[in-house]
Amino acid sequence: MNEHLLEIRNLGKVMPAATNQAPVPVLRGISLDVARGEFVAIVGPSGSGKSTLLYCMSGLEPPTEGTVRMLGKDLAALDRRAQARLRRDHVGFIFQSYNLIPSLTAAENVALPARLARRKTDRARVDSALSAVGMSGQARQKPGTLSGGQ
Ligand SMILES: Nc1ncnc2c1ncn2[C@@H]1O[C@H](COP(=O)(O)OP(=O)(O)OP(=O)(O)O)[C@@H](O)[C@H]1O
Ligand SMILES: [Mg+2]
Repeated sequence: MNEHLLEIRNLGKVMPAATNQAPVPVLRGISLDVARGEFVAIVGPSGSGKSTLLYCMSGLEPPTEGTVRMLGKDLAALDRRAQARLRRDHVGFIFQSYNLIPSLTAAENVALPARLARRKTDRARVDSALSAVGMSGQARQKPGTLSGGQ
């Protein structure tokens, strides 16, 4: 397969206006292809729209303009469930504010997408993911007892 993982064309996002405020244009005319195996870093000053771009390219926020194709599928043509399935199966997302589930341990948080997909949890894979980021010793701790970086 040589299709692009992501094909973004002329993406634009204007945040709706708050009361008595003008709408906020955040993204304009962004086109980007990401190929299989490619590493891409999006860099820019605080407030320049990096998080908004990531939300739009994963379907978490609808763009105001342009198209996003993930694995060849136009996100706008998929309903929310289909979009969520695509993300669950193919996207790893670390939010700026983490969004970990506080009642689950670190290992259970790592395994959550597989659980939502009703797949058998591969304990060795969870352990190796935690170990890759130096967190073997914290597998059974809940997010509230972890450091910011952990
Ligand atoms: N819901 C919203 N309504 C209005 N404006 C918003 C909203 N969310 C973000 N913005 C504005 O959009 C711009 C881009 O925000 P965004 O969070 O994408 O920036 P960022 O590049 O991720 O910044 P940082 O490096 O600080 O994380 C900012 O000016 C922000 O104030
Ligand atoms: Mg951000």
